[in-house]
Parts: sequence; C-alpha cells; structure tokens
Amino acid sequence: AESEASTTPAVVLNPSIKKDVDKVVDTVLVSDLSKPLTAYCRCWRSGTFPLCDGSHAKHNKATGDNVGPLLVKK
Ligand code: FES
Repeated sequence: AESEASTTPAVVLNPSIKKDVDKVVDTVLVSDLSKPLTAYCRCWRSGTFPLCDGSHAKHNKATGDNVGPLLVKK
C-alpha cells in the first residue's frame, strides 16, 4: 500500500542555515539554560537559530503554515 508520505512532494525545509554541513545538529545542555523558558526554532527561518527569534510569524503569514517554537521550561 502506498503511504500518505509518498504522495507528498519532497521539499527543502531549511533555506539558509549551515548549508555547508550534511546535517544540522545542535546540542543544548539543560544545566546551561539560564532562563526559566527558552524557545527553540522549528521553522528554520530564525536569524538566531537554534533559538527562535519570532520569524515563524512572518513565515506563517506568508504561507498559511502553522509552525512555531519548541518551548523548554527549566
Ligand atoms: Fe522559527 Fe520561531 S523563528 S520557530
């Protein structure tokens, strides 16, 4: 049976972040978190990646998408 994923055209999610590496991976030590709440980008548009800078709002408005950050609470 054909899966639903195979009917969706493949797209590039990351337009500009660290395009010189094969895979963008970021590691955060929980013990290094200084604020009670930290927002991490999941839209790949942040100018402060991997942190969220609010760029998802512009992306969502322009595309009708609904992406937003991962909030990590200390
Ligand atoms: Fe990417 Fe907020 S800027 S999720």
